[in-house]
This record gives sequence, structure tokens and C-alpha cells, in this order.
Amino acid sequence: MGIQKVGVVGCGLMGSGIAQVCAQAGFTTVVREVSAEFVEKGLKAIEKNLARLVEKGTFAEAQKSEVRGRLTGTTNVADLKDCDVVVEAIVELLPAKRELFTALDALCPPSTIFASNTSSLTITEIATSTKRPDRFVGLHFFNPVPVMKLVEVVRTIATDEKVYEEMVAFGAKLGKTPVRAHDSTGFIVNRLLVPYLLDAIRALEEGVGSIEDIDNSMKLGCGHPMGPLTLLDFVGLDTTYYISNIMFEEFREKRFASPPLLKRMVLAGWNGRKSGRGFYDYSDPAKPKAMKF
Ligand code: 3HC
Repeated sequence: MGIQKVGVVGCGLMGSGIAQVCAQAGFTTVVREVSAEFVEKGLKAIEKNLARLVEKGTFAEAQKSEVRGRLTGTTNVADLKDCDVVVEAIVELLPAKRELFTALDALCPPSTIFASNTSSLTITEIATSTKRPDRFVGLHFFNPVPVMKLVEVVRTIATDEKVYEEMVAFGAKLGKTPVRAHDSTGFIVNRLLVPYLLDAIRALEEGVGSIEDIDNSMKLGCGHPMGPLTLLDFVGLDTTYYISNIMFEEFREKRFASPPLLKRMVLAGWNGRKSGRGFYDYSDPAKPKAMKF
């Protein structure tokens, strides 16, 4: 029968995007959040994205209704019990992820494949909270999920070969280009991206260039869609700080160590676009203004 029904746990920024691409790819999709308010917020974000696709002519109105019809929101984990695949996209806290998967392991049939969207935690450590580490992979999507074309499919030493290939094929069915990665902290993208972002902060700290000039250099000189400091604001400074600490802990290499400025900005609550301030001030979101330090 193959994969028919997908469960997504978490309907925040990443979870709602994952649920959207699953429903768009034709899978019956159940997305779970902790409260009715969060379910509604996530589903509203998806509806807004779908409406934009109709506006652009990517979708007909009828197609939008079909996609929306494949999506159900719930607050009850038990509603995921008959899913063929469950993708987790909750907070980046190991105990919370382990607790969730232990509960899912008891609910779902042995055939269900589990996946975590973690960007920095060890898949092996999450998988061992279940009795099925052989049916467990990492599926790491990128923000904004409906737009970014990549998914990292992560295998541990315990992942079954057939399950892994099935999940690589699943990533492709979602319209993404799947890349194969081993369960090494940060996988491929963050292994390369995080030191680059941290170096941009170090360049700013050392006065190599201004915020705008560092961003313009990489945008215009290298064709990146966003400069590194804008990207840091987009990803979230708290998120980057958290990932860099985990990567530093794992590799003990300076390139993964948080620069002092990043730590201080996070301590001050300047977490980037979502908090209204990071390397830029977003009081007018259409015209971000570089901060002065
Ligand atoms: N959801 C859905 N669609 C969105 C979207 C969202 N949140 N944000 C933008 N889009 C769509 C727009 O509708 C638009 O579609 P169209 O071209 O068909 O009209 C398209 O994306 C381009 O958007 P905009 O014109 O508004 O703006 P930009 O051209 O600046 O593109 C961007 C926005 C796609 C975010 C682009 O700037 C970009 O690619 N930035 C880099 C993003 C990136 O590097 N992400 C990875 C972060 S790392 C990560 O996620 C890993 C984690 O572990 C840290």
C-alpha cells in the first residue's frame, strides 16, 4: 500500500510547512499541536499560503480545497495512531522529543516510520526512546518549508536500509530534493552554514565591515538570496545560538563556538525578525533598519 497517511507533530513555523507540503503531495495529513489555539494558528498560516498559490495561479481554487480537505488538525496524539509516517517538529528539547516518541511508539503499529525534523539533536538519542530505532530517520526541512527545495534524510547506524530508501523516496514525493546524510551533529547544511553565520558575526565584531556591507557582500558578490546577518535574523538568533552550542559541545572546534555578541543579543532578547530586533530593527517590517552597536 505504501505511505498514505502522514502525522505531523507540531504546527509552528516548520510543522505547518511540513503539513502543507504533505497535503499538497496528496497524503492524508493529521497535524497535532498542544492547544486548539496553536492548531488554529498553524492551519490559518497554511490556508494563507494556499490562498497565495491560488492568487499566483499555481493552483486552481478547487485544488486548494482538495489540499485543505486532506488536512486535519488535532490536539490529541492518539489521532496519529494509524499514520504510516509520523514527522516530529516540536521544540528542540531532547526530553520533550523522547517523551513524545515513547508515547507514539505505544500508540502506532510496528509498521509506522518515525522521523524527526531536529536540526541539531542526535537522531540516535531520540530514536532510542522507542522500540523501533530501525524504523527511525531524520527528515530535516528548511525554512520556509513550502519554498526551500531540500530535505536532508538522516540515517543512524540502526536505521533499516529499506526504511531509509522509503524515506528518501518520500522526500522526493514531497517535491523536495532529498540528500543523504549520516547522523552527525548538524548533518550537512548546518555543518557548513553555522560556521559561516558565526563568522559573519565575528567579522562584524572585528569591524571588518558594517551590517549592510557584510550582507550586501554575500548577496551581491556570491548570489545568496539573503546576507548572513539577515539570514541570522530570519532563522532566529536564539535558534542559531542553541545549535552552535550543541555543535561546539560535539566537535569542540572554535568554528562552532558562539561569538560573544551573539550570546549578548540572545540574552537581551534580540532574537531577530520574530522579536522585532536582531541585527536589524523590524519596527517597519517592509524596511528593516540596520542596528548600531
Ligand atoms: N511560506 C510560503 N511561501 C513563502 C514564504 C513562506 N514563509 N516566504 C516567502 N514565500 C514565497 C513567496 O510567496 C514568493 O513566491 P513567488 O516568487 O512564487 O511569488 C517567494 O517565496 C519569494 O518570496 P518574496 O518575494 O517575498 O521574498 P524573497 O524573494 O526575498 O524570498 C526567501 C524569500 C524564499 C525566504 C529567500 O529570501 C530565501 O531563500 N532566503 C534564504 C532562506 C534560507 O536560507 N533558509 C534556510 C535557513 S536554514 C534552516 O532552515 C535550517 C535550520 O536548521 C537552521
